[in-house]
Amino acid sequence: MKKQSLSVPTRGRTLDHAAFVYDFFEPILLLGKQAAYDQQIVSLLNLEESDRVLDLGCGTGVLTRMIADQLKTEAGGVSVGIDAAAKMIRVAGKKRGSDTCRSEVVAAESLPF
Ligand SMILES: C[S@@+](CC[C@H](N)C(=O)[O-])C[C@H]1O[C@@H](n2cnc3c(N)ncnc32)[C@H](O)[C@@H]1O
Repeated sequence: MKKQSLSVPTRGRTLDHAAFVYDFFEPILLLGKQAAYDQQIVSLLNLEESDRVLDLGCGTGVLTRMIADQLKTEAGGVSVGIDAAAKMIRVAGKKRGSDTCRSEVVAAESLPF
């Protein structure tokens, strides 16, 4: 799929404006429990190396990457984060992109997956 560099419309609000401060403020807003919550989600997913996971509204891709780290490209595993806010996806790609971690500008209302 072609990567988009512009945000796409949704029925609600997106967080383009927060992209560059999100990684700093989110742990504070969640009283330092963000990592523990994300770990719990990863553990509940009970992932296998070949899983293909879609993270809707991935923001800067913290959880997308934690999931991706449990997967193996050779096994076909991939974690894809989508967000309608292009600036979020830019941060996600730059900071957290890897062989098993991709991110794309997509609205949850019109999933191409
Ligand atoms: C509160 S943030 C959560 C980000 C990430 N999941 C996390 O836990 O750190 C919600 C994200 O959903 C995105 N979003 C909101 N509505 C969306 C939609 N309809 N389609 C795609 N992304 C959307 C926003 O731009 C924002 O980045």
